[in-house]
Amino acid sequence: MKNLFIAVLALSFIAFTSVSFAEDKAMAERIKLQLKSPGRDQFDAIKDPGRKPLEVVQFFGIKEGMTVLDMFTGAGYNTEIFSAAVGPKGVVYAQNYHFVLQLIKGARHKSMLARLVNGRLPNVRYMVVDAEDMPFDNAIDVAYWGFNMHDVYNSVEAHEGEAGVQTYLRAMYRALKPGGIIGISDHVGEAGYDNVEFHRIEPRIIKEMLKKAGFTIEATSDLLGNPSDGHSQSIYAEELRYNTDRILVRARKPK
Ligand SMILES: C[S@@+](CC[C@H](N)C(=O)[O-])C[C@H]1O[C@@H](n2cnc3c(N)ncnc32)[C@H](O)[C@@H]1O
Repeated sequence: MKNLFIAVLALSFIAFTSVSFAEDKAMAERIKLQLKSPGRDQFDAIKDPGRKPLEVVQFFGIKEGMTVLDMFTGAGYNTEIFSAAVGPKGVVYAQNYHFVLQLIKGARHKSMLARLVNGRLPNVRYMVVDAEDMPFDNAIDVAYWGFNMHDVYNSVEAHEGEAGVQTYLRAMYRALKPGGIIGISDHVGEAGYDNVEFHRIEPRIIKEMLKKAGFTIEATSDLLGNPSDGHSQSIYAEELRYNTDRILVRARKPK
């Protein structure tokens, strides 16, 4: 009896592992195809080598069929990748706050809309809505906030430093299912340098902000790291463009 139980357990484990292996392989294939899709934004391909889309998706635990929220999607680089990652059974909510309509005369917003013409990315729902007004409660598997925490934290005008960051994080907390994942990526800043001017943020601050909002930090990654970036220049410096030292942080809403 005991042997039978062990055999059933082992077979279930093998079946489970091979299904998830097949799903991971199919997801990698969908992302690879998406990178060649003709309707992508003109700047996407320039970013691809420095953004390692498949590895980033894997680090944040995004899988087929999930519901993903891409906070401040901007022109939608990540939304496009997440759309392929979750596949036709999943959904990606691409959010921009209203500021996107002023930013570079609405250029990012227009690029995002252009991705969606003729039913491109049918599993994407684009919304221009401020964080506090998002219509999600315990509904999202993974919320991603990419390369924007520094803007909100460092901003002295429209957005409000730490309070602004907490507004965003609290909105994502509410949106996530219990046990759901929040993924942050940003340009690494170092104490002693002008991180406001350089568009960077110290990793310690990212973690503090997440903990303050109630998340449990699970892992950090230097997948998008660049040891030759000394953190002493703007992210827009010619030699660093698209290749800054970036950190990924994965955290969880408690169950
Ligand atoms: C790089 S996009 C991030 C878009 C998207 N999440 C991604 O990962 O590609 C963020 C840009 O929008 C602008 N931006 C967004 N929010 C801002 C704010 N509150 N204050 C100033 N600039 C902001 C900045 O120019 C910033 O570099």
